[in-house]
Amino acid sequence: MRILISALILACGTAHAQPADEELSEMGTRVLDREALGQERPVRAPTMENVLSRKRQDLSGEWRYLIDPMRAGLRKGNARRDFWRDRVADPRGDLIEYEWDSAPTINVPGDWNAQIEQLRWYEDLLWYRHTFDAKPKPGHRYFLHFEGASYKTYPHLNGEELPMHEGGFTPFEYEVTDLLRAGDNSLVVAVDARHGRQSVPGDYTDWKNYGGITRPVHLVEVPETFIRDYRVSLSEDRAAIEIEVHLDGPDAGETDVALTLGGIAAAERTRGDGTVMLRLERGDLALWSPQTPALHPFTVRTEADAVDDRIGLRDVDVQGTQVLLNGKPIFIRGISLHEEALGEIGTRAMDDDAVRALLRHAKDLNANFVRLAHYPHNERMVRVAEEMGLMVWSEVPIYWEVIDYSSPYTMALARRMQAASIHRDYNRANIVVWSVANETPITDPRNAFLGVLMDDARAIGGDRMISAALNKAEKDGDQITVTDPLGAELDLLAVNEYEGWYGSRKLDQVPDVRWSSIYDKPMMFSEFGAGALHGYRERDATIRWSEDYQAEFYAKTLEMVEQVPNLVGISPWVLKDFRSPRRWHGRFQDYWNRKGLISETGERKVAFDVLADWYERKAEE
Ligand code: GCU
Repeated sequence: MRILISALILACGTAHAQPADEELSEMGTRVLDREALGQERPVRAPTMENVLSRKRQDLSGEWRYLIDPMRAGLRKGNARRDFWRDRVADPRGDLIEYEWDSAPTINVPGDWNAQIEQLRWYEDLLWYRHTFDAKPKPGHRYFLHFEGASYKTYPHLNGEELPMHEGGFTPFEYEVTDLLRAGDNSLVVAVDARHGRQSVPGDYTDWKNYGGITRPVHLVEVPETFIRDYRVSLSEDRAAIEIEVHLDGPDAGETDVALTLGGIAAAERTRGDGTVMLRLERGDLALWSPQTPALHPFTVRTEADAVDDRIGLRDVDVQGTQVLLNGKPIFIRGISLHEEALGEIGTRAMDDDAVRALLRHAKDLNANFVRLAHYPHNERMVRVAEEMGLMVWSEVPIYWEVIDYSSPYTMALARRMQAASIHRDYNRANIVVWSVANETPITDPRNAFLGVLMDDARAIGGDRMISAALNKAEKDGDQITVTDPLGAELDLLAVNEYEGWYGSRKLDQVPDVRWSSIYDKPMMFSEFGAGALHGYRERDATIRWSEDYQAEFYAKTLEMVEQVPNLVGISPWVLKDFRSPRRWHGRFQDYWNRKGLISETGERKVAFDVLADWYERKAEE
């Protein structure tokens, strides 16, 4: 299953104007034209590869902020509140009703919910301002790069408005070469956490909608002609390595590119469009796997630019009902998790240490796989998982029935979001699944909408399995059959199941449940779980919310798992308790989803060892 990325058509995804609400009702039934939409492959996100390894000024730190729940600042034309002009009032001059230098401060990166008590549940508009010193050099170009901000971002640099970005979980950037000043620069950014009926995700989720500039912001310096991106792919027979490099700038064509991977060198001259394909023999370069997560030093350079990376090489295939990694069948010992750091409050902001602290628990579970639910996590999460030998399920937030599957606007947005995620992580060997959805309704509009996303992921996503977490199955007593038509197009079937937690089935009936599907494909459970408050113990394991119930749920569910034909893995829900506005129970939840195997501060529940022991035995099979 090898798809070589062709030189992508960098046609911009046509951004549709968001339709007025009254249009939405009739649009709910429209089935988008998958074939026509497939004619224009989405642009890979216009962000350069591997920003973290480039010359950059990290703009993290204390920024000023103003809260704007009436969204006054977006109503242009009133000098009293033109925050982006960053004006200083003349006490005898015109009335200005803001003053940045006396505004309070907030840390960037970081959601405002965790940092400011009065904004704990705020999901509207907030303005940031940061001033920074720059020394732009002639013959260089400058990009303002956001690793992520949620949900809509309106940047302004030195009083100039930059295009609004929509999407809370993928990087975006702007070339600011002509706007940057020598000396002091003023960056004013409005972030709107509000989701609507056309947004992705929709306006109803089982996780907290953290708002703000949640990931770092960088000012990146590159030469006039620079290395925009590179794509490393292992050939089907695992003997050769194909590397596509794409330069950007006036001298992109007919330019010499040299690279080394694991000490093996190659060099070629780019074509007129600035792209070049180089091919190496793998030789004895070690393959990446959970047991041996080998990463090889990689450098690509031109006369003017050079980018370093660490690259893993591996091959994923589906053969019949098995998943093969590097030609050998694997069993996925997974765990699902949200992008939320350990801690009593709950925050989206995660630096390297926070990522390592969380993924350590996954390794202690004897896991070899993490489902990064339900949206693209920050880049560190993927890279640290790669170093640790954890395969990754990467997902776009096409979540539940609240997505408008009939809307061209939402379709274009979802495509750009998926392309941005794929573009950022294409070279991460540990990503083995691109998931296009979670628990979506079986309707014609949804089938067409997800069909477009699957076609895109297959075209630009490289050597991965395409999947989606399904949750609509046909139940007949103890027999449950997966018949979702989407299954016909997935490489890997994945099912969320909660027998013994949701619904009427009792724990002692769970081992009698028999699963099957109408497809002759590998299948995994992408979710199962039960809630428990850490520290709440009961002798009677049938009492909900106790750690004992959760442990019994896992024991009974694992008995059921062992009966499922073609099962290639599980990724239980969920590693850590996480914030959710839908979890109200005062004694047991307190606005936390308590299906974690560890509490929000990392305390292990009894079920942790039930799964860890089962995985340890599975690993020895
Ligand atoms: C669903 C959903 C999760 C949710 C979980 C739950 O399966 O995919 O996002 O948190 O159920 O009910 O806890």
